[in-house]
Amino acid sequence: MRVIIHMIITANGMITGKDGATSFISKKASAEFLRMMGEVRANLVGSGTYKETLVHGSFPYPGLNVVMTRKKVKSRWKNVIFTDKGPREALYIFKKHGINTVMVGGGKINSAFMKENLVDELYLSIEPAVLTEGIKLFDGADFKAKLRLLGVRRLSNGVVQLHYKVVKQNRSKA
Ligand SMILES: NC(=O)c1ccc[n+]([C@@H]2O[C@H](COP(=O)([O-])OP(=O)(O)OC[C@H]3O[C@@H](n4cnc5c(N)ncnc54)[C@H](OP(=O)(O)O)[C@@H]3O)[C@@H](O)[C@H]2O)c1
Repeated sequence: MRVIIHMIITANGMITGKDGATSFISKKASAEFLRMMGEVRANLVGSGTYKETLVHGSFPYPGLNVVMTRKKVKSRWKNVIFTDKGPREALYIFKKHGINTVMVGGGKINSAFMKENLVDELYLSIEPAVLTEGIKLFDGADFKAKLRLLGVRRLSNGVVQLHYKVVKQNRSKA
């Protein structure tokens, strides 16, 4: 299973501003995110991201969508599954559908998956902005990780995308 986190962040690593604001996100970075999502067609989000993307009209994405929530929610879409299971079991839902590459996202979800050593790659599109209030790229769970830089791409005049491999290792030595 290949697990990818693809996030659009500020220069100081925020994924939203105050009250979930995403006005710092450029059209180019957003289009690149949607292009990859259209290719992968497998999206796993936390309920925070689900609620925001639903409001903005972009949810559900093409392909299979899994939403992690500890609440009981009944799906009203054919391609959306809500689960109250942990990260490993949530990924297993994709495996059962024959899917081997998944895009994972949400501040808390990013941390939960990194903590369990489940993430293979990070794509970070860095917007030329700094926001001191909002949600961090990794929120909640505590972990350490080592990364290997695989690529650097200029998406537009202002936006650079970094592509990292997460070095899998024994967390106790991280
Ligand atoms: N800039 C970007 O590229 C980008 C990308 C994605 C998201 N975002 C933004 O990120 C924001 C959401 O981030 P977030 O951190 O608030 O929420 P999140 O990570 O999307 O979702 C967290 C929620 O998922 C549920 N959950 C279920 N199992 C969990 C587990 N094992 N670990 C952690 N959470 C679990 C919990 O909600 P329950 O109470 O339902 O159980 C938890 O509060 C949104 O505003 C979205 O727009 C930005």
